[in-house]
Formats: sequence, C-alpha cells, structure tokens
Amino acid sequence: MNMLKGIFITGTDTGVGKTFVTACLTAFLREQKMNPIPYKPIQSGAIKTGQGLIAEDVEVYRKVLGFTDKQEKYCSYALETPVSPHLAAKKEGRRISFEEIEGHFNALKSNHDFIVVEGAGGLGVPLIEETDRIHLTGDLILQLQLPILLVTHPGLGTINHTLLSVSYAKSLGIPVLGLIVNQWPEHPTEMEKDNIQMMEKLCQIPILGLIPAMPAPAEEYILTHWPKIRESFDKEKLLELLKEETKNERTTRTMG
Ligand SMILES: Nc1ncnc2c1ncn2[C@@H]1O[C@H](COP(=O)(O)OP(=O)(O)OP(=O)(O)O)[C@@H](O)[C@H]1O
Ligand SMILES: [Mg+2]
Repeated sequence: MNMLKGIFITGTDTGVGKTFVTACLTAFLREQKMNPIPYKPIQSGAIKTGQGLIAEDVEVYRKVLGFTDKQEKYCSYALETPVSPHLAAKKEGRRISFEEIEGHFNALKSNHDFIVVEGAGGLGVPLIEETDRIHLTGDLILQLQLPILLVTHPGLGTINHTLLSVSYAKSLGIPVLGLIVNQWPEHPTEMEKDNIQMMEKLCQIPILGLIPAMPAPAEEYILTHWPKIRESFDKEKLLELLKEETKNERTTRTMG
C-alpha cells in the first residue's frame, strides 16, 4: 500500500489525549501490515530519576506498544520543567533545533514506513525563542511537511477550540486530515452528539475516530480491551485519506 511518510498528532490543548491517540493509532497501523513508530520530538515536564529524565509520553508508548528500545529513539529533547518547550529549554540551557528533529525523523524513516509524531500542547505552542523570531509547533509541522490529525474533546467548548485550531492550521497551509475525538462517553448526551456533528460541518473535515473514555489505568485498559479500541477508528476513511494524501503530495511535487 502506498502511504504517506507520517502524520503529526496535535490537539486543541495540552492533556487532551494526544499520547493515547498516538499510541492507539500506531497500534492500529501496525495491524494494517505497516511498520509505524511513535516519535515525540520534545517532551517538557519529564520526570527526574536516578536513570536520568523520563519522558512520560514515551513510557505510555512503551506500555501500549511493548517497545524496549532506549528513550532517545523516540524522543529528541526531554526537558524537566513542566512549561512550554521554549521556556523549559531556556531555563535548562538547552537549544532546540528543528534541523536536529528533522534529522531524527529521517533516521526513523530509514527503518519505519510511517512515523506518528506527537507534538507538545497545540499548534500555537512556542518551541524556540530567538531574538528576532519565535518558532511555533505549526512551524515545525511545516518543516516536517506532514499533515495533521487534531485530537479534540467532546465536551462544552469543543466546537470553539476545534474550529480555531483547524482554521489556524489551514491559514498556515497545513493539511488537516481529520479529527479524533478522545474520551467519547459510552452514553453521550445530546450536546456531545451535536458537538461532533457541528465540528464536522463547520471544519469540513471528517471525524476519523471516537476514542472511548477508559477507566484508569487507561494504558492497561487499552491492552485488555484492544478489539474495542480498534473499532473506535474509522478504518476505511482513515486508510483512504492516508493514501489520498500521498496522491496529493505527488500531484504537488509534479506540478512544482
Ligand atoms: N480515552 C481516555 N480515557 C481515559 N483517560 C484518558 C483518555 N485519554 C487520555 N486520558 C488521560 O488523560 C490524561 C492526558 O492524556 P494524554 O497524556 O494522552 O494527553 P496529551 O494531549 O498527550 O498531553 P500532553 O500535551 O501533556 O502531551 C492522562 O492522564 C491519560 O491517562
Ligand atoms: Mg502527550
């Protein structure tokens, strides 16, 4: 199957569920005879231990996907301070480089056919602060030339958060493949059902997954209830879009 080189998972906010979606999407793609890998370029709020800084998102990938390789394979920058990467890097005397991240992405690409990249927070998060320019998550996505999947929530406020994020991505020229709604309740209210319809209509992009709200610890639940979680993705539409995007990419390259 001819597929895109990867996808960038971003969200309407921090804590919306990007890590869970990244892990579940990687597991889902692995079942489609692909060899995907998750990648978290920058993790702030890493936990300090005797063995160094532990990137918690990578720990989730490990548990869900059963990886054993060193953290450095999945994460370029682990920063301890739990703030926006630009500030964490500044406080810790680190210099984040998009070239370094692109190099890491390309190195992963040599052994994997699909990279699921998880951003920090949302699209407008500052990653690098220079005297004359601030580089945001949106700029990194443009550099990696990836389309995005936007993780959102089903509750009050989501139409506004989602529409703003999608409009911003479109204004930067970033293709938005679709939305993944995380923590979808077993018995959605009228408002939650209306929210997802409204988001599809207003953003004019499809909802490609409704990931259920899981009891804690959610990592364990994913493992024990994988067949149910797998069904939360719109398999046909998702795979079709990944292929479609490849076609668009080829057309653009040919035209360019
Ligand atoms: N579907 C779910 N059901 C139950 N709990 C969930 C679900 N998705 C995420 N969580 C919980 O919500 C919290 C935030 O999720 P997650 O770490 O995936 O967010 P994130 O968007 O990756 O955050 P960050 O911006 O810090 O990377 C976690 O504690 C996780 O256990
Ligand atoms: Mg995360």
